[in-house]
Formats: sequence, structure tokens, C-alpha cells
Amino acid sequence: MRVLGLETSCDETGAAVYDSERGLLGHRLYSQAALHREFGGVVPELAARDHIRKLLPLVQAVMRDTDTDAGDVGGVAYTAGPGLVGALLVGASFGRSLAWSWDVPALGVHHMEGHLLAPMLESEPPSFPFVALLVSGGHTLLVDVEGLGRYRVLGESRDDAVGEAFDKVAKLLGLGYPGGPAVARAAESGDPNRFRFPRPMTDRPGLDFSFSGLKTFARNTVLAHPRDPQTVADVACAFQDAAVDTLVIKCRRALRQTGRARLVVAGGVGANVVLRRRLSEAVQALNARTYYPRPEWCTDNAAMIAYLGCRRLLTGAREPPAISVRARWALTELNAADP
Ligand code: KG4
Ligand code: ZN
Repeated sequence: MRVLGLETSCDETGAAVYDSERGLLGHRLYSQAALHREFGGVVPELAARDHIRKLLPLVQAVMRDTDTDAGDVGGVAYTAGPGLVGALLVGASFGRSLAWSWDVPALGVHHMEGHLLAPMLESEPPSFPFVALLVSGGHTLLVDVEGLGRYRVLGESRDDAVGEAFDKVAKLLGLGYPGGPAVARAAESGDPNRFRFPRPMTDRPGLDFSFSGLKTFARNTVLAHPRDPQTVADVACAFQDAAVDTLVIKCRRALRQTGRARLVVAGGVGANVVLRRRLSEAVQALNARTYYPRPEWCTDNAAMIAYLGCRRLLTGAREPPAISVRARWALTELNAADP
């Protein structure tokens, strides 16, 4: 089965074609980062309008790239949530209309489930069961994954998501948007010994996270020092160290607690190279293995949506022809879908 996947949940417009026999045939992505930069964050109305302009040309391009005709497509999958409602509605109404006109099924899929399964696109995918660390702009989740749709949330952030904390600290340091990659770049020239930030909620049992205190700590540090380039780099470095350490400590704990031998890391913050390096070392020490999607599939993309849509359509998932999206959507509300 060949599936067209559409991603429009936030500030990236994506289209991809996944074939159940041949794997991912192609994907295209358009980032709205330049559009939102002057506002220091995503403006939902602008995001939705830009998806409207970019989605059709992207779909045409990816179908051309992959030699896919309308008659080859067996289903259309689109991100139905969680995300920005206006942005989601663009992909949902476009995807449903296309599927209707091609007389194939359309399926709205869960954005975080897409992230969770992105490592399946790689040549050595993890097998179930595994623990997943989902770290994006909106979520920080540790999930025990037994199979497709069988998710148990082990821990989550009580306040800011870790990506959100990266974005806020970047803004505070005048590093611009998107913040995660900017903080990571600045941290490269930082002195790791100048400041030490706390590792929130690691001194007590449990797998929940809290990142808002870390952000406040960064703000207080900035206010207490002259804002020269070296201080900016040192604060970025101390913040990244503390955020990464906190994630590593909780992942180690989750692996020990569940006895799983595999850790999947997904979502935008999963592109952070320091996190990838430290997690791999820590997980190896537990005789477990870490799986990452390549960096371009850590951040938002349609490849993961096409893959997930194909898996779920093949298990017979179908929906009535109504256009609905969800700004909030817990992973644990999903149905198990074993083939
Ligand atoms: O998964 P994603 O692309 O979008 C959401 O679904 O939220 O994640 C975006 C988040 C942003 O907060 C961004 O700052 C962060 O991922 N991010 C990073 C890096 N690349 C993206 N954070 C830290 N280091 C990076 N290299
Ligand atoms: Zn995402």
C-alpha cells in the first residue's frame, strides 16, 4: 500500500510518500522559521495561512519525485493533533478532500505517535518493546511502548516541555528562534565550569520532569552578570548540560524500572548532539541500546506521518468522512493496533 502523508501541526509543512513494500519513497519539507523569526515564536494564524500556500505545491513535488500517480495512492494520512488547531485544519481538510476525490481512505494520526515511530524509518529499526523518550517543543514524555498503540506513560513534564525551555532560554539570551539549535550552537564555545545549574526533580524518586525552574535559574544568572558573548555562551552551556543530565538520569531510571533493553529517542530535542552522545554512553553502560531517527526525522516531518498512517491503515483503521482535529490529545487514548 502506498500512502501520502501530510504534516501541518505547527510551523513546518511536510508531504511524504511511504510504500509498505519499498519503504519511504520520498519526502519534502518547508520550514516557516523565517516567517515567524521576527515575532520570536510561532504565530498560529500566520502558520495556518502559510500551510495553505505551501501544501499543494509540496504534494505535487513529492508525487513527482516519487513517480506516484493519483491511482497509485491507497490512502492519505495527515496529522490530526496535537498541535495548533488552525494549522491542523489545513492538513486535515486538504488530506480528507484529496482522499475523497481519489476514493481512498483518509486517516488522521497522532503527531507524537509519529515521532515515537520515526526510528522505524531507519535501516536498523528497534523492535518492540522499548522505552521512548519524546522530547519536543510541546512534550517531554517517557513512555513504555509494548507495540503499536500500546503506550504507558511513565513520566512527563509538570510544566514546560524541554524544547520549550530551550526556546525560552534562547529568547532570554537574545539567540533568536528556533531556540534549541541556537542554544546548542552557543553552548559549543561555553565554559562548562563557570556556572552550574540544578538538575530538577532528580533528587527524588519518580520519572516526572520540571523545566520551568531551570529557565528561571537561567534568567537570574543572566540578570546577575553583564551580557557579553562569553556569558551568553556559558549560560547556554550550563543550561544545556543541566537539561541533558536531567533527561539522561530519568532515562536510566526508566530503563532500570521497566527492565527494557532498548531506548528510543524522538522529537525535536532528540536532534541535540550532546543529548545523543551522553544518552548513548549512559544507556550502553546499562547493556541497553539507543535508537535515534536521523536529525531531520527528529524534528517535524511528513515521513513519520506517512509511515504511521500506512501502519494503521494496513491494520484496518478507518474513519468516517468528518474533518476533526485535536489541539490536545493524550497518547494513552490511542487504540492498540496489532496487525
Ligand atoms: O518535534 P519538533 O520539531 O516540534 C514539536 O512537535 O514541538 O520539536 C521542536 C523543538 C523546539 O523546541 C526546538 O527548539 C527543539 O525541538 N530543538 C532542539 C534542537 N533542535 C530542535 N533542542 C535542542 N537542541 C537541538 N539541536
Ligand atoms: Zn513534533
